[in-house]
Amino acid sequence: MKIPKPIKLAPSILTADFGHLAEQIAAAEVGGADYIHLDVMDGCFVPNITFGPLVVGAVRKMTSLPLDVHLMIDAPDRYLNEFAGVGSDIITVHAEATAHLHRSLQQITMLGCKAGVAINPATSVEAIHEVLPFVDQVLVMTVNPGFGSQRFIETMTAKIRRMRRLMDELCPLADLQVDGGIHPNNIADVVYSGANVIVVGSSVFNDKDTPAANLALLRQHLAEND
Ligand code: DX5
Ligand code: ZN
Repeated sequence: MKIPKPIKLAPSILTADFGHLAEQIAAAEVGGADYIHLDVMDGCFVPNITFGPLVVGAVRKMTSLPLDVHLMIDAPDRYLNEFAGVGSDIITVHAEATAHLHRSLQQITMLGCKAGVAINPATSVEAIHEVLPFVDQVLVMTVNPGFGSQRFIETMTAKIRRMRRLMDELCPLADLQVDGGIHPNNIADVVYSGANVIVVGSSVFNDKDTPAANLALLRQHLAEND
C-alpha cells in the first residue's frame, strides 16, 4: 500500500525539557521536523494550563519552522490577534470552544495565518461540515485534549477515515492533522486512514532517545509500511 501524500511530522513541545527549550527545538529541527506544534491550554476549556503568546513569540525566535499553534482555550477570538502577532503560522481553534466558528476561522485567515479547526473525540465529523470550505487544516483529536502521553482512542481511526472522505468532497487541499497518542506502532495506521500531518509529543521528546533519533524511528515505521 502506498502512503497517500507527503507526511508532515509536527513535534509538540508539551513533554520537552522547558529548561532547554531552544536546544530541544533545534534538535527536532535538525531531525527533520516539519512544524513545531504548540499546545496552548487555559485551565477552562481543558483541565491544564500551559503557556500563551509570550512563549509562542519566544519559540518564534528559536526556529524558522512553521509554528502550528493549537489553541485549547475558551472563546479564542479574544486572543487571535495576539497569537498572529507573535509569529504563528497556523492557528487552530476548537469547534467546541467558540460560539461563532465561521467568524473565528475568518478572523484567522484575515490575520494572514492558516486556519485550523479541531474536534474532540466526542464531537462528530458532521459538526464541522459547514466550515470545511473555509479551513486549511482539520485536527481530529485522538485523545481528550489536556495532557501529553495519553493513550490513543482506537475508534478514532474510523473517524479519521470519515473525516478524510468529507474533506475530499469539501476541502480536498486542506491538511488532516491528528494529535494524541501517536507512536511508531500506530503512525502508519493513522496515515493510511487519511491523516497527513501528525502531531507527535512524547514519542519525540522523551528520555529514551534524542528527538532526531525518535523522529527517524517514526519515519522508518512509515517507510516500512509503504
Ligand atoms: C494534547 C495535546 C497534544 C499532546 C500530544 O492535549 O494537544 O499535542 O501534547 O502528546 P502525545 O503525542 O504525547 O500524546
Ligand atoms: Zn496539540
